[in-house]
Amino acid sequence: MNVKDELRAKARDVEAFLADCLNHRNIPERLRAAMDYSLMAGGKRLRPVLVLVWAELLGLDPEAAMPFAASLELIHTYSLIHDDLPAMDNDDLRRGKPTNHKQFDEATAILAGDGLLTEAFGLMLSAALPPERVVSAAQAVAEAAGARGMVGGQVLDMQYTGKDAVSLEELKTMHSMKTGALITVSCLAGAILAGASAEDLGRADRYGRAIGVSFQIVDDILDVVGDEKTLGKPVGSDQGNDKTTYPKLLGLEESKRQAEKYRDKALECLAPYQGVQADFLRALARYIVDRVQ
Ligand code: IPE
Ligand code: IPE
Ligand code: MG
Ligand code: MG
Ligand code: MG
Repeated sequence: MNVKDELRAKARDVEAFLADCLNHRNIPERLRAAMDYSLMAGGKRLRPVLVLVWAELLGLDPEAAMPFAASLELIHTYSLIHDDLPAMDNDDLRRGKPTNHKQFDEATAILAGDGLLTEAFGLMLSAALPPERVVSAAQAVAEAAGARGMVGGQVLDMQYTGKDAVSLEELKTMHSMKTGALITVSCLAGAILAGASAEDLGRADRYGRAIGVSFQIVDDILDVVGDEKTLGKPVGSDQGNDKTTYPKLLGLEESKRQAEKYRDKALECLAPYQGVQADFLRALARYIVDRVQ
């Protein structure tokens, strides 16, 4: 099986769990529909798969990590709904369908995002694992998803929009916060839940940081050279919004080289590990750079 098929197979397990996540009778129907609409619209499910694979690599039954894995997809989905809003990127297409605010309305999209984010923490805390591991992993997710991580990075993204004097260092910080933080904590949470050693935690963290930045560099590249149908989201959105991106700052070729540099850093972190999970993580680091969706 190639890595794309393997990722899809793992994504299907995550989706089976996600399908039941929002079945609470007391969510108002319109809100449940809006949350479900974006959550079940497809997507690569990269972040939950990273939780599961790092957990399994370090000796935990991945089923035990599933609530946590799913919670990262809830947070990621909320971030996409808000990212697409007119006040931010103002995009109309996501995961091959009209964006949440187009399908519903802006207020519902904001609240669907709020609902997914909050629900995610309830889900994390439901994991049937040693409480100190659950608390530590949830704390790491809170830090990565919030003002010191993804939300902070999204603010930098908005501040750098339409600005010419952004340095490569600033751009890298923005990427590592808005996208890298959640990808990193997915790896880290899997390791924490598995009760990993300090060395293993360090390697999960460094691998996540490296693939996180390369993932967003390639996202920037695909916004220029990608195909809307394959991507399921608009091409040329960044240029249209005058976003600060790697291609804008460095051009396409150098951007690709940078993504490859981070891929190689990620591969180095995996050197001590053997077996199917490690091989999958190696293939994933390569796939992130070569992907077309
Ligand atoms: C898109 O993430 C937003 C970024 C952080 C770059 P993905 O490319 O993982 O989107 P889905 O989940 O597959 O739709
Ligand atoms: C989004 O970055 C990062 C998030 C935290 C959602 P982008 O704005 O580049 O993501 P896409 O291209 O819309 O998926
Ligand atoms: Mg954005
Ligand atoms: Mg966007
Ligand atoms: Mg993008």
